[in-house]
Amino acid sequence: MTTRKELIKKYLEFFKSKDHKVISNASLIPENDPTVLFTTAGMHPLVPYLIGQKHPQGKRLVNVQRCIRTGDIEEVGDETHHTFFEMLGNWSLGDYWKEDSIKYSFDFLTKKLKIPKEKINVTCFKGEKNILKDNESSKIWKDLGINKIKFLGKKDNWWGPAGTTGPCGPDTEIFVNNVEIWNNVFMEYNKTSKGKFEPLKQKNVDTGMGVERTVAVLNGYEDNYLTNSFKLIIKEIEKLSNKNYKGNEREMRIIADHIKASVFIIADGIIPGNSEQSYVLRRLIRRAVRYGKIIGIKNFTTQIAEPVFKIFDDYPELKKHKKTILKELKKEEDKFLVTLEKGLNKFKKFTSNKKQLSGKESFLLYQSFGFPIEMIEEECKKQKIKFSVNDFEKANKEHQKLSRTATAGRFKSGLADNSELTTKLHTAAHLLLEGLKQTLGKNITQKGSNINAERLRFDFSFPRKLEEKEVKKIEYLVNSEIKKEHKITVQEMSPQEAKKSGAAGSFDKKYGNKVSVYSIGNFSKEICAGPHVKNTKELGTFKIKKQESVGAGTRRIKATLE
Ligand code: SER
Repeated sequence: MTTRKELIKKYLEFFKSKDHKVISNASLIPENDPTVLFTTAGMHPLVPYLIGQKHPQGKRLVNVQRCIRTGDIEEVGDETHHTFFEMLGNWSLGDYWKEDSIKYSFDFLTKKLKIPKEKINVTCFKGEKNILKDNESSKIWKDLGINKIKFLGKKDNWWGPAGTTGPCGPDTEIFVNNVEIWNNVFMEYNKTSKGKFEPLKQKNVDTGMGVERTVAVLNGYEDNYLTNSFKLIIKEIEKLSNKNYKGNEREMRIIADHIKASVFIIADGIIPGNSEQSYVLRRLIRRAVRYGKIIGIKNFTTQIAEPVFKIFDDYPELKKHKKTILKELKKEEDKFLVTLEKGLNKFKKFTSNKKQLSGKESFLLYQSFGFPIEMIEEECKKQKIKFSVNDFEKANKEHQKLSRTATAGRFKSGLADNSELTTKLHTAAHLLLEGLKQTLGKNITQKGSNINAERLRFDFSFPRKLEEKEVKKIEYLVNSEIKKEHKITVQEMSPQEAKKSGAAGSFDKKYGNKVSVYSIGNFSKEICAGPHVKNTKELGTFKIKKQESVGAGTRRIKATLE
């Protein structure tokens, strides 16, 4: 049995031996990217470097990255779909190109994982519009002795951008026994907001290998949930429900996937709520609870979470936040049980004097009271009430159309496009941190930040509301520095040197052996990945719009540049 830990270790070792530097497994909550809710691929935290910024660790990088994809929550339940998964990746930032990339993949699969090359087949980009067929990749594969090559169009052999704009390009996908396990993307284009594909300043390689799938393939399983990324969780569900996995696969997979994803999301600082990531988390927990009800278990989320901590004991984040994770799961489950009770009452009302449930009514139960469709069907059967899944689907489609229009605004432009506005706010965040320190005390630390094109959100350690005169002083300090027209300078050094030089940064965080330190005059010095404006004169006027508390000891400021 090859385990996830073994596969990860082999992958990192292999690329280390090819001069790649291991970069950290970033948070599931993207920093400074307003266009997506979660980190969806290993390349995501690397967007600034893919569009030309210099990475402090160099041009060859490798890691394992935790990811969440929520696009197909509804698909979870079959053998291969997950919301949470781990992705192995290696990158060339303007260094090696197709030949080395494909050879590395081939060598890793055949020499390190010992997969016979007869079991490998690949796909390449067939060309479309102004973009040429990828004969270069297919020739490299052929020379390596891989003859099962298919050419496919953009739907299959093109990756990115992660949002609606940004780096992207044709890819070659690698299948073992017809399961796609690895995707090598050759990023040579930047998609603009006008839909144009412009050549990137540098040609990058971005690859992604799904850990769960690859471990399944290596062990001859067709069901990812049988691998050791899931086995202990499924066992625990079997124990609790006194039912077998066989025959209850769909429900058990959904519970296992959703509780695992929830554990990781809470570990990265989110708690259930009604907006953005918090809402996704709420949906995941509630969906798990609903499916628990179908297989007859209740008050189970914390117990199902236990094996997640065991399987992923290589994540210090989980260990560190275990108490909070268990507390939040329990709280949300309790809350939801009350809602479900209310939903059942509603159901009774809908059906008290008719023997039929309409599409609209069933959709309301689904949407507002969190009933899964299976539960609605089950309830109707029990009470001999007529119900059509088609009518439900119709109401569901209608709703989706409306919500897609509503969210289109949010995602209309990607990181690459917003970059000018977000870059300015990013530089303002550095000035703000120093302004806070000079006004409220040297020991203020940054707890988090989130930037979109409209505003900067900044969390920091402080126990009380800021007084009006403190707010004014912070604004004054920041604006005075902006007016001094400082050039922003960057230096690379080791984290130890950075600390010694007095740069702000979270030194308990794992940095690589080189970091970038950004200085703004003599005012601010901070470890940061960038990007930043060239001169503070580009910033305009800094204004604090709002302050609030986000839990004990942490304040949040929302600020803009006008
Ligand atoms: N970004 C590509 C993917 O997600 C390769 O890592 O498949």
